[in-house]
Amino acid sequence: MKPINVGLLGIGTVGGGTWTVLNRNEEEITRRAGRPIRISHVADRNLEHARTLTGGKAKVTDDAYAVVNDPEVDIVVELIGGYTVAKDLVLKAIENGKHVVTANKALLAVHGNEIFAAAQQKGVMVAFEAAVAGGIPIIKALREGLSANRIQWLAGIINGTTNFILSEMRDKGLAFAEVLAEAQRLGYAEADPTFDIEGVDAAHKATLMASIAFGIPVQFDRCHIEGISKLDAADIKYAEELGYRIKLLGIAKRKEAGVELRVHPTLIPSKRLIANVEGAMNAVLVWGDAVGATLYYGKGAGAEPTASAVIADLVDVTRLHTADPLNRVPHLAFQPDQLSDLPILSMDEVETAYYLRLSAADKPGVLADITRILADLSISIDAMMQKEPAEGESQTDVVILSHVAREKDVNAAIARIEALSSISGKVTRIRMEALNG
Ligand code: HSE
Repeated sequence: MKPINVGLLGIGTVGGGTWTVLNRNEEEITRRAGRPIRISHVADRNLEHARTLTGGKAKVTDDAYAVVNDPEVDIVVELIGGYTVAKDLVLKAIENGKHVVTANKALLAVHGNEIFAAAQQKGVMVAFEAAVAGGIPIIKALREGLSANRIQWLAGIINGTTNFILSEMRDKGLAFAEVLAEAQRLGYAEADPTFDIEGVDAAHKATLMASIAFGIPVQFDRCHIEGISKLDAADIKYAEELGYRIKLLGIAKRKEAGVELRVHPTLIPSKRLIANVEGAMNAVLVWGDAVGATLYYGKGAGAEPTASAVIADLVDVTRLHTADPLNRVPHLAFQPDQLSDLPILSMDEVETAYYLRLSAADKPGVLADITRILADLSISIDAMMQKEPAEGESQTDVVILSHVAREKDVNAAIARIEALSSISGKVTRIRMEALNG
């Protein structure tokens, strides 16, 4: 049967993995797809590398536009990354009536609404399994496997670099900067790892998952983002003593008034399965009203794990490209005219539990002052831990775990606690999630 022709934009790590896996598993993939999937065109700036890898089996060019404009190409796989050229190429491919497979979470989180609308109008598919959690088929699960459910919330470890750093900080008691240097040496973190450590990469992925889970437009600009660069090793140690681990979570929760969409370091009970996801691995916990909790675990990055997701999309597109566009799976799981205008809530309205650490003078009445402030703002204390002051010190660490409270009230309490003369420095505030339904 005539192969479907794929134009690959970028044959670096993921593109190379896609080439390798497609060739290695050609027979199985063809049996699944119903016809061969063939990378017929490759565009890459490094022509020599592209030619060596493809060994004359694909047309190689350094002009990506030549690929998206080539009438022989049926599906464009965009693995260039970034917002500008990639956006232009994807829109051009769509305009030319080609289906698109992309791993570009940044592009879709920021420009997804425009890209999906263009694809809808043109009757082509834009598939993006590889954009979220690498090899874990989480888009498929949220969009199709869980479609009977009213999804209430999801929480994911969706950035391998930061999870590796947090695991090492906890395991070895090291400071953030030391582990970051190690992560860079091992090649986990980029030379400029800002998007990873400041939570932006996780926010891109959380934004896409929230849209599919709740049927809302993509709204990256409404996602609250905090990374791990300011996390203190002391908090990881205290959390452990209290039975918690700190993970960088991407969280999307449906509330009556709107959706909470946030990325931040989070204390989670050590006994939860997801708390034990270590190193560069990813995991996403999804709670649906019919199914309850489901957990998806696997490699969130790397050549072949990400290629696994890219190729699954290629198989889907190959199976469905002759179907009536109206009968295909909608890009954001819900029919485009059925997207909801449920707003993304401001952080002031977020409700969760909190870990607070403060440095207090070791003298009578200090705890009474703190608990009075919390009580005045209706913040209930769940647990409290005070350390003996170090030899010769008069200040001591006090850690308070609250019950669920409103972020606005917690911020007001923190401001009042910081103003007490017995408190030195800033109060450390880390949000907590029980993740139990
Ligand atoms: N930088 C990402 C991570 C790679 O560390 O998980 C996959 O998106």
